[in-house]
Amino acid sequence: MARTKFVAGNWKMHGGLAVNLSLLNALRGGMAGVKAQVAVCAPYPYLAQVQSVLAGSPVGWGAQDLSEHAQGAYTGEVAAGMLTEFGCRYAIVGHSERRCYYGDTDDVVAAKFAAALAGGLVPILCIGETLAEREANITAEVVTRQLEAVLNRSGVAALAGAVIAYEPVWAIGTGKTATPAQAQAVHALIRARVARDNAAIGAGVQILYGGSVKPGNAAELFGQADIDGGLIGGASLVAKDFLGICAAA
Ligand code: PGA
Repeated sequence: MARTKFVAGNWKMHGGLAVNLSLLNALRGGMAGVKAQVAVCAPYPYLAQVQSVLAGSPVGWGAQDLSEHAQGAYTGEVAAGMLTEFGCRYAIVGHSERRCYYGDTDDVVAAKFAAALAGGLVPILCIGETLAEREANITAEVVTRQLEAVLNRSGVAALAGAVIAYEPVWAIGTGKTATPAQAQAVHALIRARVARDNAAIGAGVQILYGGSVKPGNAAELFGQADIDGGLIGGASLVAKDFLGICAAA
């Protein structure tokens, strides 16, 4: 099953109009020869800028979160329909920073996933274990629980329109990358869990790895059988690094 490689940048809460412009122009200009699908997920206020610079380029874009509601009295929240007005194709849901710092439970993440799909977005569902969970040997249970929250709410067919990102929390922003074998083992179990509900969807769903991916380790990670690209934090802020990772894919 040939799955297209996908590299998505997660800028997190970084950026500014001037630095974004040079980064976006460099990405736009650096896509020749890149075969992978590429996107950047920017902070909400910059989506209009991202749209104006990247429109017509092969680089897609999206948001880093969204509301589980379609509209209403939810101060500070942003709905899927607002994101699509700015050309967003993707929304990250369930990033570990949202789960850890903003109380996004498995149920909230499942609701946001459903809202993204209902609003015409491709959710990038992040799942992954903490260091304590890995050391307690419950990685499989944790990622399965996180995945099943979405499967139970939206059904396996929903994953045909989604992307999964396995991000071990202990590897995010720490410089500690999961070894390709460690990552591959978890990717294989995630794919097997989806395939248990629907073999074709399991075989087709893109599963990205995230956590300290850099140009120097990307090719080996992306060469694993069940790793279909990466969700890139820190390195997505540096054009040369992000383009190097896109080239590796
Ligand atoms: P990192 O972040 O590449 O800086 O480790 C990845 C992520 O949080 O998506």
